[in-house]
Amino acid sequence: MIYLGIESSCDETACALVDDHFQILANTVYSQIDIHAVYGGVVPEIAARAHLDKILPVYYETLKAAGLSQDQIGGIAFTRGPGLLGPLLVGSSFARGLALKLRRSIEGINHIEGHVASAFLTEPNLKAPFVALVVSGGHTELWRVDAPLCYTLLGKTRDDAAGEAFDKSGKLLGLGYPAGPQVSKEAETGDANAIEFPQALDQRDNFEFSFSGLKTSVLRYTQSLNEKELLHQRASICASLQKAIVESLVKKACRALRATDLDTLLLVGGVSANPSLRLNLQESAKRFGFRLIVPSLDLCGDNAAMIAAAAQMRRQLGLLRGPGELSPNIDLSCENSKG
Ligand code: KG4
Ligand code: ZN
Repeated sequence: MIYLGIESSCDETACALVDDHFQILANTVYSQIDIHAVYGGVVPEIAARAHLDKILPVYYETLKAAGLSQDQIGGIAFTRGPGLLGPLLVGSSFARGLALKLRRSIEGINHIEGHVASAFLTEPNLKAPFVALVVSGGHTELWRVDAPLCYTLLGKTRDDAAGEAFDKSGKLLGLGYPAGPQVSKEAETGDANAIEFPQALDQRDNFEFSFSGLKTSVLRYTQSLNEKELLHQRASICASLQKAIVESLVKKACRALRATDLDTLLLVGGVSANPSLRLNLQESAKRFGFRLIVPSLDLCGDNAAMIAAAAQMRRQLGLLRGPGELSPNIDLSCENSKG
């Protein structure tokens, strides 16, 4: 049975078709980055309108790429939250309308669950339990995932998400939106030990993160430099900033594995595309003997294949729940305890 996935929680309009062996038949992502770059961040109202413009062309392009007709769609899955309400509403309305027209079942998927499910597109035989480190522009969370589809939050950020820390600090350094990928590119030629940026909550025996102090430190540091010095030091500031974020993520993830006594770690979400984070976790995996699973680069950022994969997982485990209520703040653990 083939699922159509629809993702529209932020600034990517995406559709994908995934079969019940977790094979991706087509995966189309239209990124609105260019539209929002001029504002230095995502403007929710503009994002909603862009989703409205693009959702139908993206849908048809996906069918064409897979060489399928819409009659071959077996079920429809869409992101019901968390995310921006206007953009979510576009994806949800489109999914509901299409489900009525095609007379197909419809499933609302938690966006975070979607990111976790992206691992099944890489490892279809992956078995829970495992720890998932979800790092994106809006989320930095450590989850314990038990079979079947039971999520327990171990810890999350108290303020900014890791992607937000990359983006906001990069903006202070004059890098465009989203700054995360550009910070990691600049960092390649910088000295990661040049500046000692703070790693909050480091000494505490918990799984929480905090990145807002780091952003303030970058601000203070850049304010002490003139334009020429800033340009000269930018690569090293990026490398030092990246080191502070990556070390904090790696430390807490390894701590979570030790505390839960689990031996598999999933790294998912947009920031999992960061080469330094991937490398550091690979090294830790070798050193401490755990298994690291990271989706391929095209599945790290927001996409609809992960939404379709989550629906396939739910269907195969008999855990489908229907479209549910749309919410910009759905919490995965609460959602699970209700269902
Ligand atoms: O998962 P995602 O596509 O969207 C959300 O659900 O938020 O994550 C986007 C985030 C942005 O903050 C972006 O700057 C960050 O992922 N990101 C990176 C890299 N590639 C994307 N951060 C650091 N290094 C990268 N290479
Ligand atoms: Zn995401």
